[in-house]
Amino acid sequence: MRMVDLILKKRRGQELTAEEINFFINGYTQGEIPDYQAAAFLMAAFFQGLSPRETGDLTMAMANSGEQADLSAIPGIKVDKHSTGGVGDKTTLILGPLVAAAGVPVAKMSGRGLGHTGGTIDKLSSVPGFQVNLDNRRFLRQVKDIKLAVVAQTGHLAPADKKLYALRDVTATVDSIPLIAASVMSKKIAAGADAIVLDVKVGSGAFMKNPEAAFTLAGTMVDIGCRVGRQTVALVTDMDQPLGNAIGNALEVKEAIDTLKGQGPQDLRRLCLSLGSEMIMLAGQAADFATAHSRLSQILDSGLALAKFKEFINAQGGNGQIVDQYELLPQAPVVYAVAAATAGYVEAIQAEQIGLAAMQLGAGRATKEAAVDLAVGVVLRKKVGDRVNTGEPLCDIHARDEESARRAENIIRQAYTIGNQAPEKRKLILGKV
Ligand code: URA
Repeated sequence: MRMVDLILKKRRGQELTAEEINFFINGYTQGEIPDYQAAAFLMAAFFQGLSPRETGDLTMAMANSGEQADLSAIPGIKVDKHSTGGVGDKTTLILGPLVAAAGVPVAKMSGRGLGHTGGTIDKLSSVPGFQVNLDNRRFLRQVKDIKLAVVAQTGHLAPADKKLYALRDVTATVDSIPLIAASVMSKKIAAGADAIVLDVKVGSGAFMKNPEAAFTLAGTMVDIGCRVGRQTVALVTDMDQPLGNAIGNALEVKEAIDTLKGQGPQDLRRLCLSLGSEMIMLAGQAADFATAHSRLSQILDSGLALAKFKEFINAQGGNGQIVDQYELLPQAPVVYAVAAATAGYVEAIQAEQIGLAAMQLGAGRATKEAAVDLAVGVVLRKKVGDRVNTGEPLCDIHARDEESARRAENIIRQAYTIGNQAPEKRKLILGKV
């Protein structure tokens, strides 16, 4: 088999066999196929697309390209959850303990943040003492003992995807739906999930800017899951404004704890209850959505999910006292309110701009190697639809110094649109696939 023939075949829009896809992925992972041929293939796939069967084969070839987590020692159906990335998305911090408290094991591998979106591992790193790297034995034992562990994903998982994603980044081939779908699903499958709940974000802060593209991506990923024997469902959810109010690592941990105490923002609570309900249904612990939702609401309101969060933090070496003493989390030295220049209604908040403001404060990474400042970020005080008077705070900036706060303020002012009329209410959950 020759790579040049596979490139030509795809360039002509013909369908590749599973054997040909495996040849490409194995050869590329082992360094036998050079970047220039892989790049030409990606561009051909970008323009010609991949059939559902090819997309499934590509996913499995990438999932099989490195280590695969073996979760078989943990009894029960292991359900993973994945968000396609957004601003202020701290759902894993709430969903993990919520679902675990319902008796469903959560053995989660998460990533660090890049660009304007945050990563769960960075958020957890803001908890003093918390260890994001556990060896495999300890990881499995913790899930068996307390039903919940969250660790940093290693580069040994789906190495083909890691290499290809980096190549796509520099060859303008990231935003291809089959390539994104195969990339996401290969990592979930290699991480050992029996079943997967996907949160596909849509809007100004998301990869997918319009609902049509988001539903197509969701459908493609659900199709892959079904083809490869992992039950998969997807919710398409709003990311036109940030989720909840807090953006920034320690600030998001605090908001997650507030939500576990029943005092968090309503959009965040609603989304967590919906995603969690899908998870416990896939795990076979509830027959229908209404039953699942009511069970999880009870677990949340009774404090059981909060207790599970504290147990989880302590189990991974973190200081569980943060649950009651927020001052133990990293604190920014400068807290600065951005006051509204005009009165009216908040018509829009460009989520990506808010994410970029947080990133420029130091909460996110511009490059993979960059360090993050765990204390800094933004807490929104006004969200879309809220009435605001002149001089009222739109948000608080938590910064390392005055200068970075002012730079973030300029970005945030442009992110807010204030008009005369209350905008139409947007749906938080646009649909299920
Ligand atoms: N996230 C991924 O993991 N892969 C993509 O291709 C895009 C977003």
